[in-house]
Amino acid sequence: MTVTQQTLIIVKPDAVQRALAGAILSRFEAKGLRLAALKLLQIDRPLAERHYAVHQGKPFYEGLVQFITSGPVVVGVLEGPNAIEATRNLMGATNPVTAAPGSIRGEFALEIGQNLVHGSDAPETAEYEIGLYFKPEDIVSYHRDVDRWVAE
Ligand code: RTP
Ligand code: MG
Repeated sequence: MTVTQQTLIIVKPDAVQRALAGAILSRFEAKGLRLAALKLLQIDRPLAERHYAVHQGKPFYEGLVQFITSGPVVVGVLEGPNAIEATRNLMGATNPVTAAPGSIRGEFALEIGQNLVHGSDAPETAEYEIGLYFKPEDIVSYHRDVDRWVAE
């Protein structure tokens, strides 16, 4: 079933440093998803802890917080039909070694700790994560003329 969704993406510090931010955003755009919000910022520790609260206590948690706060990121909201699953599939599996060829992680990354991109994994997570980075008035819902060629 087609349902219009919003999802949060983060182009992670490794992607910004490797000058892949534009290429990664371009993949989501080329898929047909619409940007509804976009900004560059450096995530601080309190925000990282809120974002990755579900991973607190796991062995990789400290490294994950260090990494996500290590440099600027590009954070955005994508909107479109089944946007959450579509975004996750374009990203590829968490471990880039096994991520499908053609996916962002499959094409451009090698390590689980430096896997270039984040995408919300469920509607509730998307709502929570969007709220961490954007005020309601920062999110612009609109239609593009091409949208009728992307979704019926
Ligand atoms: P993300 O949240 O970044 O979109 O990635 P994901 O859903 O595919 O993976 P998740 O399980 O939510 O893990 C979040 C991030 O933690 C790092 N991680 N390291 N060493 C490990 O076993 C391990 N597991 C996860 C990854 O950087 C992952 O993106
Ligand atoms: Mg996740």
